[in-house]
Amino acid sequence: MKSQYHYQIYLEPGQLERAATRRWVELARESIRARNSFHVALAGGSTPKPVYHLLQQEELEWDKVHLYWGDERDVPADHPESNYLMVKEALIDHVPIPVDNVHPIGVQADIEKSVEEYRQVLGNVHRSPNGLPCFDLVMLGMGDDGHIASLFPESSALTVADTAVVSVYVEKLNSWRVTLTYPVLNAARNLMLLVTGEAKAPIVAQVLGGDGDENYPVQKLAPQGRAEWYLDQAAASQLSEST
Ligand code: 6PG
Repeated sequence: MKSQYHYQIYLEPGQLERAATRRWVELARESIRARNSFHVALAGGSTPKPVYHLLQQEELEWDKVHLYWGDERDVPADHPESNYLMVKEALIDHVPIPVDNVHPIGVQADIEKSVEEYRQVLGNVHRSPNGLPCFDLVMLGMGDDGHIASLFPESSALTVADTAVVSVYVEKLNSWRVTLTYPVLNAARNLMLLVTGEAKAPIVAQVLGGDGDENYPVQKLAPQGRAEWYLDQAAASQLSEST
């Protein structure tokens, strides 16, 4: 598992976010040159937020950029916990991206309807050989329990192999989520994992330096494209030199 990953440790404050932003822009330009579009699944949570802020300053053909989400909480789009709202405030409201290029997971009362509608929306994305969406870039954060997107430990979504998006009840949060599944995360041309903080260091060490026993959801990733970890010193603090 560890051999397929590239990782970089950033020591100075802000260095990780600037590097991730540069890479995001580079992949966007590369994808627009090659396929005249850039389809990216964004991460929620707090780690990627500074990257979304930095992207406000970037010169890009925003009319060729399509934003999706890797997961969404079971809250309305104007709720403070909404991953869509976080990106809207940090990025969308500040760049000339057409409204039709923004594809949120529209969570509604009937969550299965949200799943079905998002499944249709994902039809805009290029297809991978298995017929599922192949994003140009999927951004992920990682929880202290090793979850990615809303693929939490012991969740029913961990074993889904034949569909792109599912609803999942997260016991520990006592709430529903909508999430992309491993087949889609794995099929991405590029995967960017942004992980910071001491609390995540044991899992980072196990994933990037471990012997492969898969205790955490992040370890069940099997990226077919290029997967890069952006780590700060705290998150990398348990990685041995030899890794
Ligand atoms: C979410 C995210 C989730 C997040 C991790 C890490 O909806 O919360 O999609 O997977 O990436 O929980 O969150 P932080 O970046 O806030 O540590």
